[in-house]
Amino acid sequence: MQMPKLKAVIFDLDGVITCTDEYHYLAWKKLFDRLGIEFSRRENEQLKGIGRRESFELIAGGKFSGDKVDRYLREKNEYYIKFLDNNKLSPLPGITKLLEQLNSAGISKAVASGSRNAPQILNNLGMTACFEAIVDGSMCTKSKPAPDLFLLAAEKLCVSPAECVVVEDSQAGIQAAADAGMKSIGIGNYLRNADFCLADTRLLDISIVLSFNF
Ligand code: BG6
Ligand code: MG
Repeated sequence: MQMPKLKAVIFDLDGVITCTDEYHYLAWKKLFDRLGIEFSRRENEQLKGIGRRESFELIAGGKFSGDKVDRYLREKNEYYIKFLDNNKLSPLPGITKLLEQLNSAGISKAVASGSRNAPQILNNLGMTACFEAIVDGSMCTKSKPAPDLFLLAAEKLCVSPAECVVVEDSQAGIQAAADAGMKSIGIGNYLRNADFCLADTRLLDISIVLSFNF
């Protein structure tokens, strides 16, 4: 039987490519403070990687009627966009180096993010052309921890899931990668079931990607 060969690295966006995870937190904080709902960084940990509506339901589920929820989701996104407008984004340390290393090694690169804002953020960063495929939250009905976003990215790259490594900072994303049949590198010290964990993106290097047994 022929073993799969590493063909692609699929990156999460928020908290991996750039620090927009912080702006998601600050925007939720602003909304929940206004609604008088307790919300801290501790609760925010559960929201990493999951969709906008699912995030709201987790924190405030059952408290509001459907059209109010829609209004609050729009409000959260407006706060988020304002944070983006007021702050210059840059890639997190280690990302540009890894992308260059992957280019030299002929390994494809994709983004698979549950965020509907992903294309705009990559555009702001001037990084759209760094990836052969970009999958965002508007392209799949099921967000992470479902494997759909990663599977769609592999399909767009014309590679099989077993030929991919995922870089992820959320527990939902590590779960999604495992269910997609992909290996994963977790960014952060507390991610269960990642195939490899790094404290920080600055430690990323192609040698880690290549150390997986393909
Ligand atoms: C994920 C983030 O990438 O996208 C989540 O980790 C966020 O925090 C989700 O809720 C949806 O993002 P957006 O920009 O569509 O609200
Ligand atoms: Mg993330």
